[in-house]
Parts: sequence; C-alpha cells; structure tokens
Amino acid sequence: MFSDLVEEDGQAVQANQFLIVDHGQGAVLDPGGNLAFNELYLTLSRFFPPRQLSYLLASHADPDIIASLDRWMTSTSARLVISRIWERFAPHFTKVGKTENRVIGVPDAGGRLQLGLGEVHLVPAHFLHAEGNFQFWDPASRILFTGDLGVSLMSGAEARRPVTDIAAHIPRMEGFHRRYMVSGKILRLWVRMARQLPIAMIVPQHGAPIEGRAAINGFLDWAEQLAVGIDLFDERAYQLPTAMIDAESGQLRPQLRAVGG
Ligand SMILES: [Fe+2]
Ligand SMILES: [Fe+2]
Repeated sequence: MFSDLVEEDGQAVQANQFLIVDHGQGAVLDPGGNLAFNELYLTLSRFFPPRQLSYLLASHADPDIIASLDRWMTSTSARLVISRIWERFAPHFTKVGKTENRVIGVPDAGGRLQLGLGEVHLVPAHFLHAEGNFQFWDPASRILFTGDLGVSLMSGAEARRPVTDIAAHIPRMEGFHRRYMVSGKILRLWVRMARQLPIAMIVPQHGAPIEGRAAINGFLDWAEQLAVGIDLFDERAYQLPTAMIDAESGQLRPQLRAVGG
C-alpha cells in the first residue's frame, strides 16, 4: 500500500494505491490520478518492474482511480480490468488507440482473476458508490480492498495505521458515506455478502485500513443500518437555485431582496 505519494497541499484528497505480486505476476489496484503517477511508478519499481505489470485493476472510473490511465498504458503493457459499464468510457482518459485490446470489461456479477499462482476476486460493489463498481478480495492475505467504501478522511501518514477501535473511527467515516454512498438498501445487500468472507482487513482507497474481527464486525454492523444518499434526499434537495456563486470566493451569496419593495 502506498498512502502518501500525492503531496498534501489540501487540493487533492489523500488516496491509497496498492500493488499485489504473486509468483512474478503483478497488478496495481486503483492506480490513481496524474498526481500520483510519477511517485507511484518510481516507488513501485522498488518492489516490481512496472513494465512487467499484468493488470491495472480499477474499482470504478473516478479521476482518483484511473485518471493516470494514459501514462500506465504508455509505460507498461498491463491490461485494464474495469466494470463493463465503464469499458467504453475509460478510453477518454487516454490518447487515441492506447487502450485497444487492452481493456477487460467485467460483467456485473464479477469474477476471479488468476494472478501468478493465486487469484484476485472481483466482488460486486455496485453503487458503493459508482454504478459499476468492484471490490478486490485477496484470498491469500484475506484483505478486502473496498474502494470508496470504508473511507476515512485523514493524512497519508495517519492512513498507514490500521484502525482497531471502530467506535472512535466512525465519526471520520460518517459524513463521506452519507453523501457519497447511494442507498441503505445497497449497503445492506453488500453487508450480507461481505459477512460470508473471512476478512482479516478492510482496506479502503482513502484513509486507514480497518483490522481485526471486532473492528470489521463493528464496521459491518454500522454500514448495515446506515441511511445514505437517496435515503436522505427529498424535495428540499431539488429546488431551483436562487443564490449566486461568487466567482472570487467560490462561496454562495444568498439573493438579496430589494428593500422597501
Ligand atoms: Fe470514487
Ligand atoms: Fe475514491
């Protein structure tokens, strides 16, 4: 896991990237945006020759996941593995022709991908948060890479320390999940599936891993009852806007009413 490759100047959200190597085959998970590319490429070289990477596994198609695709397609011969519903959108990140015959579009049901002598499982996680979304299950380490689920907002240094006290951690996850996750129904479906896995660690794309039985069960219990996204939106969120956006400050200015009629 690489947690602090993007400079923390406050403009870009902290993000984790991952490398899995099994018997001479390598895959990068959620390689990230252009901000991460140079550092990741260099740092990764210490563990595996990037040119020999077999796969870039993308949980979904957000900029912090795969905006660096053009660079990876140029510098390696890896194939991109991504949801079938993003298969024809991802080439917009690259120059013409770079992705030709190099994208594996995964159907909604997911699947198991051979890597070296092991496997990485692409586990359905649609609407958590992207419409086509996979998590990555590594049966060898029993880590579930959950993408944008289980995210907490913190610095790269903090993200290196696994969380074992889930109660203290929930406030750092709550706001993000309420707005970026789509629905409680989906969370409950996902929890029911996730409980069937012997998870040693839940590792999100932003923030700290969640480690150990108690913390993982605590996370699943929390996620299972959470109201998010469309559960919270009602007609108040769909009113035609009146406030002005101040281009200087980027703040909203409420409309001033004419005084005295
Ligand atoms: Fe995302
Ligand atoms: Fe993300």
